[in-house]
Amino acid sequence: MHNMLRVAVIGAGMMGLQHVEAIRRIPGTEVVAVADANGDLARQAGEQLCIPACYTDYRRMLEEQKPNVVHNCTPNHLHFGINAELLRRGIHVYCEKPLGLNSEETGKLCKLAEQSSAQAGVNFNYRQNVMAQEMHVRMADASRWGRTYLIHSRYLQDWLMYDTDFNWRCRSEYAGKSRALADIGSHFFDLVQFITGQKIVRVNATLKTVLPQRLPSPNGQPVDIDTEDEALVMFELADGVPGSLIVSQVAAGTKNDLEITIDGSAYSMSWSQENADKLKISTRDTPGSLLYTGREMLQGEARQYATLPSGHPVGWQDGLRNGIQAFYASIRDHAPVNYATFEDGDYVVRVVEACVQSHQEGRWIQVRQ
Ligand SMILES: NC(=O)c1ccc[n+]([C@@H]2O[C@H](COP(=O)([O-])OP(=O)(O)OC[C@H]3O[C@@H](n4cnc5c(N)ncnc54)[C@H](O)[C@@H]3O)[C@@H](O)[C@H]2O)c1
Repeated sequence: MHNMLRVAVIGAGMMGLQHVEAIRRIPGTEVVAVADANGDLARQAGEQLCIPACYTDYRRMLEEQKPNVVHNCTPNHLHFGINAELLRRGIHVYCEKPLGLNSEETGKLCKLAEQSSAQAGVNFNYRQNVMAQEMHVRMADASRWGRTYLIHSRYLQDWLMYDTDFNWRCRSEYAGKSRALADIGSHFFDLVQFITGQKIVRVNATLKTVLPQRLPSPNGQPVDIDTEDEALVMFELADGVPGSLIVSQVAAGTKNDLEITIDGSAYSMSWSQENADKLKISTRDTPGSLLYTGREMLQGEARQYATLPSGHPVGWQDGLRNGIQAFYASIRDHAPVNYATFEDGDYVVRVVEACVQSHQEGRWIQVRQ
């Protein structure tokens, strides 16, 4: 029998609440407290989700509740300070992406994680979807997969398409220098590196801010926007495979449209996170065969991610749960690391920085190793 893990969540916004739900799906866990600087949000989360203690000051929460694990679901500019403090206290930390505002911060966090007795993970949840695992298993079997020819991808949203749309992500002091790429492109960078088992080594990118001013409130003053709304990225993996990614947060009619297609010498695979329980497999003779997420259709290690029979769709929340479950398994059972580490999170920040530099200098940039 496991000791119960005492888990606390910092940040009770959109993601914090999702983390609470996902944690509660994992046996042997107890959400003991939530902290949010906004007292109303902390109280609301406490009441609606029956969390026994809520705080506005996360340090007080740490002192009084003594959690084993903390999920850091605050805006990006707070990731560094809170993560550093958790690691120094020896508390396991599962942090939202991107890991920090820049690679100076994330490099320091990697060092702290190395020195700490605590485990440190980053919530790159898309790699935790069963079909991302299936793609990884298929590519690892070189004798059947063959050679990889090309990767083409997109990640499109429309929630910031009007100049009346505003969020802390629009300003670099809260989000980091990049917005669309750091916010959603980072998910893709982690996903493609996980699926292929190859690092992105160089990039050529164009970034664009189509709305240079936004109105945070209807009768307020316009605010200058210093982060990009959209980006085009060409990249190359360590094994020489080329790829492309189109990113936008102002593409009308798109919601959370992450799609990745990988063309190989035998067949191509295409996965869309909005239809997360299907994987499209195409040969020249049979374009568009669909795999479902039942065990019988999956291969190797990916089978352990099949929690439901085919036709009972798994989706976004299952990926989130899978990642947290893998993180807890490594804490409790010393299971092999099967989540994005701080090192992975740091590397993705360096890929984003290479994209920004490429845009500024108009040329290919090597990702700093
Ligand atoms: N993995 C994903 O799919 C995914 C999706 C959305 C957001 N995110 C990430 O999650 C993080 C949070 O994003 P969000 O959309 O939930 O933002 P949000 O604005 O909805 O929530 C952030 C919360 O943090 C609180 N907060 C601010 N300062 C605080 C402090 N000092 N102490 C405690 N709480 C504080 C805010 O009051 C707010 O409630 C970001 O890093 C974002 O990139 C990840």
